[in-house]
Amino acid sequence: MLQLGKAPPNDLTGLLLACHGNIRTFTALALTLAQRPTLNDAEAGDVAARCLRYFRDGLPLHVEDEDASVWPALLREGVERGAVLERLRAQHDEHHAAIAALVDQLAAVVAAPGDRAARTALLGPANALKDALEPHLLLEEREVFPLLARLPAEIQARLVSELRARRQR
Ligand SMILES: [Fe+2]
Ligand SMILES: [Fe+2]
Repeated sequence: MLQLGKAPPNDLTGLLLACHGNIRTFTALALTLAQRPTLNDAEAGDVAARCLRYFRDGLPLHVEDEDASVWPALLREGVERGAVLERLRAQHDEHHAAIAALVDQLAAVVAAPGDRAARTALLGPANALKDALEPHLLLEEREVFPLLARLPAEIQARLVSELRARRQR
């Protein structure tokens, strides 16, 4: 989504940043859906279904990329001592409730796209998730992603393969 019109990134930092682009895009889309009553039912149902798929199926893969692949590699290679990674991991756990609340409300809109009240009710969970995620994304982008270049090239290549394999399961 972030890379619209360009070749998809094939380096580790580029892939992770593209995921952050998707997180921001789908959060903004959910907010638009909540605030634009003029969207017709078919459009609203389509946008809600795309957002639902992303937050239910796509976002957890990015969290798993970080917790199961990237953070362990940074620790193993001695690139990061761990305090910031522990904080980010804890934040991932803290985000679960906000993600679940948004997923539930998106499912309600998918089930009844003509229900304007259900659409408006997306505003609270979408804003709550945006407020929780934005400082987290910025912390990763400022403090952790710049460290990825210090990983040996073969480790970076292996991580890229792991990220790709995770999306083909
Ligand atoms: Fe994260
Ligand atoms: Fe991230």
